[in-house]
Amino acid sequence: MKIAVFNGSPRKENTTAMVQAFREGAEAAGHEVEEYQVGKMKIAGCLGCEYCHTKGEGSCIQKDDFEKILPAYMEADMVVFASPIYYFTLTAQMEAAIQRVYCIGKPLKATKAAMLLSSGSPGVYDGAIAQFRGYMSFAGIEEAGIITANGAENKSEAKLNEIREFAKTL
Ligand SMILES: Cc1cc2nc3c(=O)[nH]c(=O)nc-3n(C[C@H](O)[C@H](O)[C@H](O)COP(=O)(O)O)c2cc1C
Repeated sequence: MKIAVFNGSPRKENTTAMVQAFREGAEAAGHEVEEYQVGKMKIAGCLGCEYCHTKGEGSCIQKDDFEKILPAYMEADMVVFASPIYYFTLTAQMEAAIQRVYCIGKPLKATKAAMLLSSGSPGVYDGAIAQFRGYMSFAGIEEAGIITANGAENKSEAKLNEIREFAKTL
């Protein structure tokens, strides 16, 4: 499978360690993994102008880094949303990227999706998980798994192994 991982962290720390472990497991299972550093990109929020659904014929009127990730949304067999929790949800950079997919509605080919979430505290994932489940159900994409790491679990070998093993099962 062609797997696109969208990393919403603006830093290369805990979430990136989760993505790296995911990549190791998925590549060991023969998948192709491409990571997109969404957290470091400049992606504005959707304007709701409907240009994409009228004159734009699927293209967005805003020209920014979203153009770097749209092809992956269109072509991936699996999408992975990896993000730190910021104020009980995904990072703003990640939210902007997800909402800009409005121009095509949903990932076009993906049949599976997963989430990797990093946080300081436990029990802070409900908002992010509810959004993910709602969106995937709307898009008709199967939930392959959700893995969270909080506090000392971040970068722990046990957690990174759990992610590697999960990715090997895809
Ligand atoms: C702006 C901001 C908001 C945060 N909000 C939360 C939060 O609501 N709950 C929580 O447990 N951790 C919160 N954190 C901590 C991060 O989720 C945590 O440090 C995470 O491991 C960072 O991942 P990263 O190293 O990939 O950036 C916040 C951090 C920042 C910078």
